[in-house]
Amino acid sequence: MQKDTITLTNNQTGKTYEYNILEGSRGPSVIDIRTFFADTGMFTYDPGYTSTASCESQITFIDGGKGELRYRGVAIEDLANNHSYLETCFLLLNGHLPSKEELLKLDLEIRHRAYLHRGLNSLFDAFPDNAHPMATLSAAVTALASFYNEHLDMENEEEYLEMAHRIISKIPTIAAFAYRHSLGIPFIEPDIDLSFTKNFLTMMRAYPGGKMHLCDKGHEDIKEVEVRALDTIFTLHADHEQNASTTVVRGVASTGAHPYVAIASGISALWGRAHGGANESVIAQLEYIGSVDKVEAFIEKAKDPDDAFRLMGFGHRVYKNFDPRAQILKKLQDELREELGLDSELMAIARKIEEIALSDEYFISRNLYPNIDFYTGIILTALQIPKSMFTPIFVIGRTVGWITQWIEFKKDETSKIARPRQLYTGK
Ligand code: CMC
Repeated sequence: MQKDTITLTNNQTGKTYEYNILEGSRGPSVIDIRTFFADTGMFTYDPGYTSTASCESQITFIDGGKGELRYRGVAIEDLANNHSYLETCFLLLNGHLPSKEELLKLDLEIRHRAYLHRGLNSLFDAFPDNAHPMATLSAAVTALASFYNEHLDMENEEEYLEMAHRIISKIPTIAAFAYRHSLGIPFIEPDIDLSFTKNFLTMMRAYPGGKMHLCDKGHEDIKEVEVRALDTIFTLHADHEQNASTTVVRGVASTGAHPYVAIASGISALWGRAHGGANESVIAQLEYIGSVDKVEAFIEKAKDPDDAFRLMGFGHRVYKNFDPRAQILKKLQDELREELGLDSELMAIARKIEEIALSDEYFISRNLYPNIDFYTGIILTALQIPKSMFTPIFVIGRTVGWITQWIEFKKDETSKIARPRQLYTGK
């Protein structure tokens, strides 16, 4: 793993210091600076960790220049086109895709674990009507830690996988309950006969007794095409290496807190609109723009250095060419346009923004391309999912990634409490 060394010279003192260069299996090498402070008496400075690898990981690989994303070595395009979200969960947690038997076992376990302890149901009542489901979701996941308070033995694979499966299967139930509480309508309990994704859509849309919403398209059942679209969205969100919320999850893991508390912290970190909250903001922004003829004025606003306005769903810290998840969803959106009756006015505004931004010098020179959140909102709107649930849907998909990263952190013997330094400039 050690590739070479690098020598740094302090130009003030002329002293030199040598550090190992560590080579991963793919991606940029890293300089091992763990003894840097002890050697030099100085810290390194890197706000936002733009050049800092915070851990060694074997879960997800991204090549931002090439627009490549792989979970455990498997390309995201392969997973999105040929595998289900549950297969992806198995892959992330176990390092390989499941056999038929392994998938069946996981599927059954996830269905059975979807119910919430009845005591947890009353927690939802503590929240005001119209509480944002992300607030309720984060609180309920923290509360879940008190229902499963056992000390985890990280030598016992069965034990920590059970902990992981439990949170993956309960998150959709909590998210659906949080949504229904925000509407003041009765909860729909999980249905053991339904698949992971269909069960979630049912808990969102059904009335007690199993009937579906009387929506603008009439009284209809959940279509397979809807299940497939949402399942793909879950897969595309399943992990994304050391992003902001995952870094928070690992940070909380480093203090020894309960894994579900770490997940709840990840949920809170995801809520912001620079991260997972962007999907809700994209649709809010499209609705605010209102019509195609106003798009150019908003593009100008986004380019104005004196205006804080940003085009939601554009740009990414890592992807500097294209976001492969966005490309898959754009294709899916085009495929589903007819079948799902995608909102044509919102789509027309989105298409116009995309068209202008992709040919505009400001966006090209800064490598600002549509990201995953630019496309999820339009598909989720067609699935009759309201804006406030877009980020909870990101949470449902990402929970497996967070918990897999939590497990990896716990098993890593080099892990330490997260405790960065600072450059003090105060009094
Ligand atoms: N609209 C207009 N200008 C932008 C945008 C945007 N969406 N994003 C970045 N810029 C400009 C920014 O003003 C800066 O310009 P200048 O060099 O003239 O100062 C330059 O591009 C670099 O921006 P940055 O903020 O330094 O880039 P970053 O890597 O720190 O931030 C980002 C990445 C995703 C937070 C940012 O692009 C953004 O705020 N995008 C909108 C929110 C969004 O869509 N977030 C979802 C990300 S994908 C889901 C996920 O994985 O979380």
